[in-house]
Amino acid sequence: MSDDLHGGEHPVQLWTRDGFQGAASVVTRSTYGPDYLSVEGPHAPRRAVLDRLTPADQHDAEAFPTTVATSRLGVKLVVSGRRKPMPYVLRNVEADEMHFIQSGTVKFETEVGSLTAVEGDFVCIPRAIAYRYAPTGDSMCSIIVESPSALKLAPPSPIGLLNVARDVKYAEIDPAIPVGGPTRLVLKGFDTENTVFSMPHDPLSLGVRLSTSVPVWKLNLANIQLHTYLPNGGPPSQFLSSSTGDILMFNLSARLGERPPVHINADFDEVICYVRGPGVWGGCSEPGTLTWVPKGVIHHGPSENVPEGYQAWLMETRATLRWTPEAIAASELMETGEYRPHPSVNKR
Ligand SMILES: [Fe+2]
Repeated sequence: MSDDLHGGEHPVQLWTRDGFQGAASVVTRSTYGPDYLSVEGPHAPRRAVLDRLTPADQHDAEAFPTTVATSRLGVKLVVSGRRKPMPYVLRNVEADEMHFIQSGTVKFETEVGSLTAVEGDFVCIPRAIAYRYAPTGDSMCSIIVESPSALKLAPPSPIGLLNVARDVKYAEIDPAIPVGGPTRLVLKGFDTENTVFSMPHDPLSLGVRLSTSVPVWKLNLANIQLHTYLPNGGPPSQFLSSSTGDILMFNLSARLGERPPVHINADFDEVICYVRGPGVWGGCSEPGTLTWVPKGVIHHGPSENVPEGYQAWLMETRATLRWTPEAIAASELMETGEYRPHPSVNKR
């Protein structure tokens, strides 16, 4: 690896608790911490290009999206690639869902209203709200974060990072959804077997809204402001968290400041989605590249100071993720300097 990757002669190495918030230890060492020769076992950094992963719902409208990663806490990562509408209505009784639209335009119909999401939108569907979705064109791709604890917008101050009044769009009741006929309502729980109610009418056919609050909303990544510390840089600021703090989400698009130090995140797995350029973020240049560094694995990470700009988001989770066999088959080991495929990976 180059001297640049090694961060100089005596690179600094951090160990931190509670993400960027807790106790920290700082040391220097003469070697580059992220270097590893090979690794075996499940707690190893991986990367996946979503275009190379074919979700189960892409060719089978009845299928659920494909689970990429699971955890003991119930936090999951799921990828969807529908070409046809869901032929049933789904209610996740275990988790809030945050759908990130990587590509395509997606019409969501829910039992609190409908919205149309475009590329770069996060769509929040809290636990136990029934929904279905469909691409408005030929295809779509989304990444779904499932969180057993409630997800909520949590910027560091009420204004600044988010302009909620301007940029958070809520579902609205669509009077065009007919009462319909018999409809399957699938309850998604932890079981491998689904629970399916047969309903006499479409549960997403609504009348009027009486409450002021609407639990289903969308927010575009491009509208989440970036926070940095100049001239040296510093950690990003979360725009969203779960009520237990098990999940934090950040806009990690290009920003000014120096490259983060080599570090070990003691308490959080880090999942970063490189959404698209124009600029390249280290070893990530293909739109929809998902990277994962498990907690306790030393990493550096590419410089975020990319003048051409790029879009990316970060999910930190206290859950310890495990990639599914399907996701392992469609992904590769990752080196944790620039987040390229690890040199031990045979070139495609
Ligand atoms: Fe990190």
